[in-house]
Amino acid sequence: MKSVKTLDEIAATRRSIRKYDASQSVSRAELETVIKFAQEAPSWKNQQTSRYHVVCSPDLVLKLRDCLGGTNPQKTEGAKALIVTTFRHNIVGFNREGVADNEVGNGWGFYDLGLQNAYLLLKAAEIGLDTLVIGIRNEPSIRVLLNIPEDETIAAVIAVGHRIEDAQRPPRKELDSIVSFY
Ligand SMILES: Cc1cc2nc3c(=O)[nH]c(=O)nc-3n(C[C@H](O)[C@H](O)[C@H](O)COP(=O)(O)O)c2cc1C
Repeated sequence: MKSVKTLDEIAATRRSIRKYDASQSVSRAELETVIKFAQEAPSWKNQQTSRYHVVCSPDLVLKLRDCLGGTNPQKTEGAKALIVTTFRHNIVGFNREGVADNEVGNGWGFYDLGLQNAYLLLKAAEIGLDTLVIGIRNEPSIRVLLNIPEDETIAAVIAVGHRIEDAQRPPRKELDSIVSFY
């Protein structure tokens, strides 16, 4: 019988994984499952401007890993897919005339994408996949490599695979230091 994980268990299992087992595959069906789940996240006026450029062919994964900054190319060794997450800018947070609704502007596009990506990470953890969100990456080379349209803002790249070893949970701040009740 399929075991059902609670949300607390899923959150506890999800960790940023920086060592992947190259011998374990990730199927297209699994990648579609996590993205489909991500689509259940709320979005500004239900505009759904988030986009996913999913790279799973080994030669392209290798090329895309080279577009990651710092030590991220090494950290993603053995990951089976890299998902470049983007959003179509100047839509969410803007009126029909293209004027920003408020001071946040395209920050709302990032907000919607981040919400969706949180869903994606949790679904991945639920079905036994591991992930790493990567913000340090070379935007121009990713755009050229995948021919990403100019009306999309590239945000994080998410590595997907299977962990080779467990990761420690980095400590979280005390609730009192981040919450104000009124
Ligand atoms: C927007 C964003 C960008 C990140 N960029 C990187 C990165 O470039 N390289 C990396 O190793 N980890 C990156 N991380 C992972 C964080 O370091 C990690 O989530 C944090 O330390 C908490 O650990 P946990 O995910 O295991 O709970 C990023 C996370 C987020 C949300």
